[in-house]
Amino acid sequence: VVFTQDDIKKIAAYKAVEYVESGMVIGLGTGSTAKLAVDRIGELLRQGKLKDIVGIPTSKITHEQALSLGIPLSDLDSHPVVDLAIDGADEVDPFLNLVKGRGGYLLREKMVESACKKFIVVVDESKLVNYIGGSGLAMPVEVIQFCWKFTAERLRRLFEEAGCVAKLRTFGEKEEPFVTDNGNFIVDLYFERSIGDLKAASVAILQLAGVVEHGMFLDMATTVIVAGELGLTVKNK
Ligand code: A5P
Repeated sequence: VVFTQDDIKKIAAYKAVEYVESGMVIGLGTGSTAKLAVDRIGELLRQGKLKDIVGIPTSKITHEQALSLGIPLSDLDSHPVVDLAIDGADEVDPFLNLVKGRGGYLLREKMVESACKKFIVVVDESKLVNYIGGSGLAMPVEVIQFCWKFTAERLRRLFEEAGCVAKLRTFGEKEEPFVTDNGNFIVDLYFERSIGDLKAASVAILQLAGVVEHGMFLDMATTVIVAGELGLTVKNK
């Protein structure tokens, strides 16, 4: 049997759902991997193998998906403590720090996933990096629309030594600004070199007025399930 990348993702997502128990409040992630996990939770509920689950979606799109699967939903206002969240990630470093938000859902993901007792991340091995920013792909920052260029320039200057480039995220041929579920823009940061101390970087980014949140999820994942050609690896904090 030859497994496709999608089969491998599915096996890993299903593995993550094994951690879900009846009666739990579950953070439902966003992205192609998280979608598979949410589908699986819906299936187990339908089959009666899971009961009394409450889902807390991390985006409008996951909210819609979960509704269509009949997963009972709530929010952090009513359920401030989440037992477990399952989500994908864009980068995972050796200390299980993450980059998330290439789909643009980082803010609600971070709110829900920082309220979790356990946070299980599911990735394929292409997401493993030696250091945050090391994939050469974007580290997203959600910013308010007001004077976004000013904010983007201040972000770029913070990381000048790392050779930072800051770009407004756009979509479509007309390159219209991408607007998040929260009505904000995304500035994607690209680094030529490591940005060094991640905690310090996080504090510096969040101190800028105009920044809402960034896509580094530091010290949050408790388990990372990595799907590779040779099977699954489970890394625990
Ligand atoms: C959404 O903004 C992200 O944080 C996703 O969880 C992340 O981009 C991983 O997505 P995939 O599972 O589709 O790779």
